[in-house]
Amino acid sequence: MDDPSLPEDIYREVLADLSKVNRVTLAYRPTLKFLENALAGRKSFKLLDVGFGQGDMLREIADWAEARGIKATLVGVDLNPRSEAAARLATPAAMPITYRTGDYADLIGDRWDFVISSLVAHHMTREELVLFLRFMESEAKIGWFINDLHRHGLSYLGYPVLAKLARWHEIVRQDGQTSIARSYRAEEWQAILAEAGVTGACIERFFPFRLCVSQTR
Ligand SMILES: C[S@@+](CC[C@H](N)C(=O)[O-])C[C@H]1O[C@@H](n2cnc3c(N)ncnc32)[C@H](O)[C@@H]1O
Repeated sequence: MDDPSLPEDIYREVLADLSKVNRVTLAYRPTLKFLENALAGRKSFKLLDVGFGQGDMLREIADWAEARGIKATLVGVDLNPRSEAAARLATPAAMPITYRTGDYADLIGDRWDFVISSLVAHHMTREELVLFLRFMESEAKIGWFINDLHRHGLSYLGYPVLAKLARWHEIVRQDGQTSIARSYRAEEWQAILAEAGVTGACIERFFPFRLCVSQTR
């Protein structure tokens, strides 16, 4: 899906299907649960979502915060300029979300309450991931949350069947399986966290096949 030669309409279709995968696989729940706990009653926050894709996680957070009377300032940054266009199209204008095109690393110094990501960590090289962890450690005042996949034989074999039954785009089916193969297990995350010099982070599994890594101060 990151192939720059992919036509704009196909990219949009792929992102729309990816947001369906996120909903069917209960992907929003771990991030919302983290925010609920980390906010500890605070009534406003400023959050950066790295690699927002179609922006569906940010829309979920916007709805979640509004339903609780919490003021959310939500910013997404994504390297791919086509993500910004697709996310804007899918987002009601009244939602408190700003989409930016670029690299998260250029946002040093902006200081966020939270930095989050979903399905981004396994796309990074190990070196990039270590730098990302250090960025979140220094830039997120209240905490950070990585929502990612749990590498598991069952999901590797089962996901293509689900994707086929659901008639998700072929790219979503193929990339999804590659993503599962590239993702980590808990002991691997421990080694990556140690390499980044991060202490006190929490590694938690969520049904089905999500492995999330977080830090709360
Ligand atoms: C698989 S998509 C995930 C989209 C969305 N978060 C979701 O869960 O459906 C990964 C996204 O991360 C973005 N990305 C990767 N590295 C990035 C970086 N350094 N800064 C900003 N975005 C990045 C890519 O452009 C891509 O859109």
